Amino acid sequence: MRVAVVGSGYVGLVAGTCFADLGHDVILVDNDERKLAALRAGQVPIHEKFLPELLSRHRGNRLQFSDNLKEAVRQSAAIFVAVGTPPTQSGEADLSFVESVAREISGGIDDYKIVVEKSTVPVYTSEWIRKIILRNGTDPESFDVVSNPEFLREGTAVSDFLFPDRIVIGCDSQRSADVLREIYAPLTDGSYYKRSDAIPQPDRALLPPPLIVTSTKSAELIKHASNAFLALKISFINAVASVCESVGADVNQVVHGIGTDTRIGPRFLNPGIGYGGSCFPKDVMAFRAVAREHGYDFSLLDEVMRINEDQRHRFLRKVHSALWTVRGKRLGVLGLAFKGGTDDIRESPAIAIVQALLQQGSQITAYDPAAVDHTREVMGDSIAFANSSYEAAHNADALLVLTEWEEFANLDLNRLRQELKYPIVIDGRNLYDPEVMATQGFTYYSVGRAACHPDGVPAAALKNGKKA
Ligand code: UDX
Ligand code: UDX
Repeated sequence: MRVAVVGSGYVGLVAGTCFADLGHDVILVDNDERKLAALRAGQVPIHEKFLPELLSRHRGNRLQFSDNLKEAVRQSAAIFVAVGTPPTQSGEADLSFVESVAREISGGIDDYKIVVEKSTVPVYTSEWIRKIILRNGTDPESFDVVSNPEFLREGTAVSDFLFPDRIVIGCDSQRSADVLREIYAPLTDGSYYKRSDAIPQPDRALLPPPLIVTSTKSAELIKHASNAFLALKISFINAVASVCESVGADVNQVVHGIGTDTRIGPRFLNPGIGYGGSCFPKDVMAFRAVAREHGYDFSLLDEVMRINEDQRHRFLRKVHSALWTVRGKRLGVLGLAFKGGTDDIRESPAIAIVQALLQQGSQITAYDPAAVDHTREVMGDSIAFANSSYEAAHNADALLVLTEWEEFANLDLNRLRQELKYPIVIDGRNLYDPEVMATQGFTYYSVGRAACHPDGVPAAALKNGKKA
């Protein structure tokens, strides 16, 4: 099938490339000429596993790049809209890019097409897209607007797309559902997974993935509700971690105990410095706003956001309780990306913490395996960048762990201690075992677990003048 994908950002680029890998002819449309030129020249603008391989497999044959949306619409049976939907000042999703794309699409509809919402959009967006297309004189019988939310995570986007937990299609007509069914058939009939050149199957893949067919509005809600629920799960465990700190319990043990209940499940229960990224913060706010607009006061989501914000302040308080004052202190930072496995720093809690510490007069030397270039664009030379974790730790008053990169969990602790001026580690991602850290001679603070001193005595007990 011939499909167009509008917007070659995270979602659009991955979806378009994966559609090509499923055997479709794809036109990836973007209005950013520089981006298109880079893509045509073989550059890969995002750090994503398997994307370079798939792009070079399909670029120039099944995957074309274009800035001509109208022409792409004419040539395609389905047009996936994957332009950004950033938050406005009041937290609603800004749909102006979606609207201008819808307007332009209307000029290219010459026979039956489906217009597919792939970006995360609030409920009722499909109705608006339909109105805009009709307002521009298009025959109502010649198109349908459908919703096909995307659940990919950064860092594992290609695997998430090709081995999804489920595929959701929200359609209000049989005809449009049939088009989407055909597009995803290589996944739902399992034929893609039998191919020798299919990308490797990740753990936990449920094959073939179920296809869930809903109304358009339900599909729009499924996307917002999924992201809000995952954010809620993270804020819930962060709140539990705070209680653990107050009573001297260990949040990892609690997570193990509750996560083995299959109704709860162990995933997305990692406490830390809060969620970030281009999706959760924006989508929780947008879901809150759309619920309010339609008469429901979803104040639970306010609390999810409040707890998330509070995690950063709690972490900063830990830095203070470890170091007393921070002005003039030299801090090593491990991790700038909003999570491990990506170079993305949008809404990164690590960046927010670094900025707060800079304002308080600390000197920062940071290392991140992928996000240094992006951080430099935002922060210039207000911080120093190291080429390795050990270099970031060198001569520092303390080391802060802010992103859950796997390589940080596997550092040589002995070497790390030797690099540091004082053996103090404040870990916002619980990458290390407190007992091991104490045995290795560190004062170690983490989230939802008692802080430890080199002799193994919890720091809280020392502060209170008694042993726990
Ligand atoms: C996407 C989704 O759009 C968003 O709803 C979801 O929640 C997160 O993922 P992302 O892919 O990260 O966002 O967006 P972005 O990186 O902003 O890319 C959008 C692309 O669309 C850019 O390449 C931009 O140049 C292009 N664009 C934007 C157009 O081609 N036309 C426009 O009118 C606007
Ligand atoms: C998320 C959704 O998972 C995905 O389905 C959706 O399509 C887009 O938004 P992404 O933003 O790429 O994906 O990252 P995700 O892995 O969900 O992590 C989001 C944030 O939550 C990160 O800052 C991460 O560090 C944090 N997180 C995640 C936790 O703090 N604890 C966890 O247990 C899981």
